[in-house]
Amino acid sequence: MILVKLGGSVITDKSQYHAVRLDVLRRLCEEMTGAEDIVVVHGAGSFGHIMAHEHALAGGHRDGSQIPAYAAVSRDVRELNLMVLDAMIEAGMSPVSLPPSAGITLKDGVLEDYDTGLLQSYLDMGMVPVIFGDVALDSVQGFAICSGDQAMERLAKELSPRRSIFVSDVDGIMDRDPAEQGAELIGAITPDDLDSMTFHARVKDVTGGIRRKVESMLAMCSPGMDCIIINGNVPGLLADAIAGKEVRGTRVKVD
Ligand code: IPE
Repeated sequence: MILVKLGGSVITDKSQYHAVRLDVLRRLCEEMTGAEDIVVVHGAGSFGHIMAHEHALAGGHRDGSQIPAYAAVSRDVRELNLMVLDAMIEAGMSPVSLPPSAGITLKDGVLEDYDTGLLQSYLDMGMVPVIFGDVALDSVQGFAICSGDQAMERLAKELSPRRSIFVSDVDGIMDRDPAEQGAELIGAITPDDLDSMTFHARVKDVTGGIRRKVESMLAMCSPGMDCIIINGNVPGLLADAIAGKEVRGTRVKVD
């Protein structure tokens, strides 16, 4: 099976509250059509990060004013999720939404209980399970953010996909801020490279930014698994990556 994460940075404009990039979202869904045994995870982008940051939701429950914010974020990420489902259905896919807040608990911000049995049953039926970055309950801090990357990590461990694809708004992991001139793509990353790398953050990201992403990709990788980050703004790349073709991007490898 294949795991795909549609990053919030590519399906939304992360710097602007509630801004979906519908044309890109629709094209990416068309590129996934026809893939068998596929699970889709999508990020929250500007439907989650901005308000979650404003109300410090990632740090857990500290005061009552956060509760309405939790409700609003949970509602907003569902709005984006519905748009993703619509785009998938329009493209001819049969998605089914499995919201983390209704099935996942965390412990101190780290994903703990996740029963993937339901997801597997939908997959066996030929449907496409869709999971997304969400707010969720936390046994220590009351609530926390369940990022799509955390869900990817767990799903990779449980489902042993042959390929995991992260669709981003840059070509892959760059050696400096992609906005800077001369930024170059790093073709492959192994666990040994992590400490020597410098990481950049361009926009508010309550789930840890690029470093966390690389760590999470390394953690989910197993020998022989194809784990790659690609640019979703380049038409055709996702379809090629799903088909197993060599594409421009950053491969994360473990021995
Ligand atoms: C974040 O999910 C969820 C919330 C902020 C509620 P992700 O971390 O997976 O989202 P992106 O891909 O960075 O936007």
